[in-house]
Parts: sequence; structure tokens; C-alpha cells
Amino acid sequence: MDNAGQVATSEGEKKTPTTVRVKNIGLRGVTVADTKISHVDGENGILIYRGYRIEELAQRSTFEETAYLLHHDELPTEEELRKFRKNLIEARPVPEFVFDALKRLPKESHPMDVLQAAIPILATADPVLDDETREANMAKAIRLISRVPAIVAGWHRMRKGTDLLPPKNTLSHAANFLWQLTGKEPDSEVARDLDTALVLHADHSFNASTFACREVVSTRAHMYASVAAGVGALSGSLHGGANAQVMKMLQELKNEKDVSGWVRNQLAKDQKIMGMGHAVYKTLDPRAPFLKDMCFSLGKKLHEEQWCRLSTEIEETAVAEFTARGLTTIRPNVDFYSASVYHMMGIPLDLMTPVFAVARVAGWTAHIVEEKFADAQEKPALYRPLSEYVGHYCGKTGCVYEPMEKRSLG
Ligand SMILES: CC(C)(COP(=O)(O)OP(=O)(O)OC[C@H]1O[C@@H](n2cnc3c(N)ncnc32)[C@H](O)[C@@H]1OP(=O)(O)O)[C@@H](O)C(=O)NCCC(=O)NCCS
Repeated sequence: MDNAGQVATSEGEKKTPTTVRVKNIGLRGVTVADTKISHVDGENGILIYRGYRIEELAQRSTFEETAYLLHHDELPTEEELRKFRKNLIEARPVPEFVFDALKRLPKESHPMDVLQAAIPILATADPVLDDETREANMAKAIRLISRVPAIVAGWHRMRKGTDLLPPKNTLSHAANFLWQLTGKEPDSEVARDLDTALVLHADHSFNASTFACREVVSTRAHMYASVAAGVGALSGSLHGGANAQVMKMLQELKNEKDVSGWVRNQLAKDQKIMGMGHAVYKTLDPRAPFLKDMCFSLGKKLHEEQWCRLSTEIEETAVAEFTARGLTTIRPNVDFYSASVYHMMGIPLDLMTPVFAVARVAGWTAHIVEEKFADAQEKPALYRPLSEYVGHYCGKTGCVYEPMEKRSLG
């Protein structure tokens, strides 16, 4: 292998590669497509869904109405919303064989793995799976939005050995999820808080999981295959997995006397403070203040404000440290305070990322439809980027294939 570490040039000669790969920047700043669904203005800290500011939707909309908006380009009339809600409620029951299949999985399986495994099983239960009309795709989206929470709640009860609970048609999407998870109907304030958290998490332009969904559906794969990819992408700790990592950090620090010292030490070791920073926002994430306020109001109500105070102490030290290092844009993101909020709602640490999926499936399915039907572009296009080959190169004829006995160890 005497050509190790050498790369091909356009002239076919060998060259040692440079160590800085300007392409490997995670597509930062590269616009890959048009969309009409949502927009993140990272410089000014603005997020809009179909033209509406997230602040307005968080205060005035509901998850059901927001899901409709993401899918329909405009807010529903009363009758349209009534019909949409009815369709969501009717789609809630998950076919029994889906849970029968999940029963065989080890109880210790991570809920994100279980959710990802459940999506193709749900596909097999879809009566219009092979129908690629817009109407059939809307029906699939409704089933997915309704059934992702049922799978998350159902798996949690199965692994604990408690009975699965049927949905309650009188409850909102958020309240029904908490009921199916905990067996208790949440009070109206808690239900409204979860509803707002779901609105805040429902979409975020071309984030990693949404891009994964769009990439997969661009191959003409069906909606379930695309959503399964989205769940996989969301599970990573730099994306949806961050909320669980934040809660882990809070639990580790709850008895720590010198929280500021811990934060400084983490940064000195080049470790990340989870739930802070963002690939696009270069100022405050507009979703974070809602979750911070929610944390304190819920904390006061449930006498658990200690989580919010601890988070604030971490935030203040980290921001001061980042600023001192010239990193003035790193602030809490959507995951920082949502961890405490979910914890106070009785959502276990490893279900926090699945709850993110409960919200984001509304955005994923809207983006899948937009990509599939080229609603924001001239015609559908398969994503197929290029890469630059920087591996072994022996000229156009290729390297000599040595028989095993002739290969040297070096
Ligand atoms: C989201 C994230 C991946 C964005 O990373 P990014 O695009 O590189 O962000 P920036 O360009 O602003 O980062 C600038 C520098 O600050 C560092 N930084 C960013 N967020 C940081 C954090 N939370 N803790 C410590 N350092 C951080 C980066 O590593 C980078 O340092 P480097 O230049 O030495 O590599 C990053 O902020 C992160 O890992 N945050 C923690 C995980 C998280 O909360 N994810 C959920 C996002 S919604």
C-alpha cells in the first residue's frame, strides 16, 4: 500500500492531502432547497412557521392547529380544524400487532430505537401505503402524528409491565399523550404547557432530522421510510438527544456545591455544555425564553423550582465563560429548559428525545409532502451530492490487487 495518504488530482497525479477539509463543515451556510414551511433567521433570532412568528403560535395556537398550518399553508377555519382534530383522534388506536411485535424487544432497549423500529411496522398497517396521491399521503401523515405518541407511551408502559391504556377522545393531543403515558389525566395547566412545548418543537426548517426525511423521500421512498430516518437522526446527542443529556447533567449536579466551578472545568476540558449553542442561531433561540418561563411557572406550581434555578446557574456561568472566550453567540437552545419541564411533567429521561419526536413528526411529514410533490420547487429532484475522493489512488488502472500471501503488514 505505498500510495496510502495520497490523493488523486484532476491530472491523475498523486498528492498528499491537506489536513484541513473545507468541505467537512456539515453543510453550514449551504442552501440545498426551497421551502414554504418554516424559516429560521439565525442572525435575528426569528423562527416562523408558514409566515407566523413562533412567539405568536406558542401563545395563541395549539399543537393540532399548528400541525394543520404546517401541512396546509394557512390557518384552518373552525370547521377545518374540527375535521382535522377528528381525523387525528380517529387515527389514535395503534393496531394490536404493532405492540405484539414490540413486546419481543428487550425491555432495556432505548425508546428511540424502539420508536425507530416501530415506524416500518406501522407502515405495514397502513391501508394506503402504496397510494402516492396527495390525499393518501395526508392520511399517512395524520396516522403518524397520532401514533408516534401512542408508541412512545405504550412502549414505556410495556417495559414497566403495566397495561396499555386506550386513548381518550375527549382529551387534546398533548393531554391524551400524558394520559396514555402515566395513567393520569393531567391538569389543564400541565396539558397546556406540554401543548405549547409541542408547538415550539414542531418544526425548524432544514434541521438534521428533517433533512434526513427529505433526503430519503427524494428517492421516492414512502413516508414511513422517511420518518424512520428522521427518528434516527433525531436520536443523536447533538440534535434531539441533547434534552436527555441536559437532564443527566442536572441530575449529576443537583448535589454539587460548586456548580460554576464544574461549568468552568467542563469548558477547560473542551467538553460541551449540552442544551447550549446552535448551528443556525447566532443570537438567542426564540423558543428558549418560553421554556424558561414555563420551567419557573411549572416549578412553582409543583414545588420543583430547584431544576430551573440550577439550570439558570449553569446558563449564567457558561454564558460568562463563552463571552470571555469571544464566543458571544452561545446561549441556551430549545433543549436546555425543556429537559426540566419534561422532568417535572413526569417524563423519564430516556423519553425526552421521543417526546421531541412526538412534536417534530408534524414538521417531518409536512416536509416529506412538500419534497414529494415539489410544492416549493419546479419538479422533484433526487438528492445526490458529490464528494471528493481523498483515499488511495494508483492512477486510472487502479491499485494492483495483491494475493493475500503477498500482502505485507506495513
Ligand atoms: C448545536 C451545536 C452542534 C452547534 O455547533 P456549531 O455549529 O459548531 O456552533 P458554533 O459555530 O457556534 O460553535 C463555535 C464554537 O463553540 C463551541 N461550542 C458550541 N456550542 C458549545 C457548547 N454547548 N459547549 C461548549 N462549546 C460549544 C464549538 O465547539 C465551537 O468551538 P470550536 O470552534 O473550537 O470547534 C453545538 O452548539 C453543540 O454541540 N451544542 C450542544 C448540543 C446541543 O445542545 N444540541 C441541540 C441543538 S438544538
